[in-house]
Amino acid sequence: MNANLEQIKAEILAGAEELTSSKEVYEFKKKFLDGKTGKIGLLMREMKNIAPEERAAYGKGVNELKEWALEFLGGLDEKMKAKELQDRYEAEKIDISLPAVTVKEGNLHPITLVRNQIIDIFAGMGFEIFEGTEIETDYYNFTALNTPQDHPARDMQDTFYLSPEFLLRTQTSAGQIHVMENKKPPIKILSPGKVFRSDDDATHSPMFTQMEGLVVDKGITLCDLQGMLDEFVKKIYGEGTKTRLRPSYFPFTEPSVEVDCSCFECGGKGCKLCKGTGWIEILGAGIVNNKVLENCGIDSNEYSGLAFGIGIERTAMLKYGINNIKLLFESDIKVLNQLNDK
Ligand code: DAH
Repeated sequence: MNANLEQIKAEILAGAEELTSSKEVYEFKKKFLDGKTGKIGLLMREMKNIAPEERAAYGKGVNELKEWALEFLGGLDEKMKAKELQDRYEAEKIDISLPAVTVKEGNLHPITLVRNQIIDIFAGMGFEIFEGTEIETDYYNFTALNTPQDHPARDMQDTFYLSPEFLLRTQTSAGQIHVMENKKPPIKILSPGKVFRSDDDATHSPMFTQMEGLVVDKGITLCDLQGMLDEFVKKIYGEGTKTRLRPSYFPFTEPSVEVDCSCFECGGKGCKLCKGTGWIEILGAGIVNNKVLENCGIDSNEYSGLAFGIGIERTAMLKYGINNIKLLFESDIKVLNQLNDK
């Protein structure tokens, strides 16, 4: 090997001592072995200027140096990469003996759960959802529901008036009128939503949630109502639950009924929940008053309807055994965690 080649080899050996990373090895390798600019690459290009009789020996020498450099620097690159990998393992090491960070799983609010469950049950019977507005006119909330100005039944619902004409709806029944005004029978709708009354005690809140049901078709009777509600109570409170209808009064239904279900706590024998009666009041309902149908332009000689209104908080309180409605609105996570269906 001529002196020049020896010098390059020495340069490689000395330079390699200084290298600290595979990236540096790569750059260093390029400095010598790059075909166009590398020192050894340039020696190869020199070949044409070498005297023909020396050419073979020159070429052999350069080739040997190139082979040696490739192997030497390749080995160095491998070592460097192995060390870098090892360093990374050390730096990113995970202590698998550490206790895991637990992610708290959320659940739907009990009111949402009960609302969804009621919707599921009635959707299965072919009901569609209609969502009304929380601000209503006096006409839709009362007058059209056969409760004109000065009707004593208005006292049953302590109303938040926004103006003489507008109010916060006191009942989802207002939605019945919108639906009947806009849709011809057959009608089968469910209308969930917030309602408002100036009422505040352990079982009443100024804002609460209702679910209205309305069916209008030819030949609808109380039997259809009881059949649907029988199905409803079985699904929501358990298979053995029965219903009973008691006469009541609502201006927009005639006849009107309060619906009780057999106590799902004691099975009807009498307990604290049903106050010893074996029955629990769950909702108001009835056959839509002819006047209400006529107010919406539906011929009451041809069609009849049934309606019911379910209090969602009341249903949730019964289902989860809660005795104070405030627990449903305080968002206390300790309480809410206990109130789910998981
Ligand atoms: N709107 C009534 C209330 O809030 C509940 C109700 C009773 C709705 C009878 C109805 C019904 O549709 O037929 O007290």
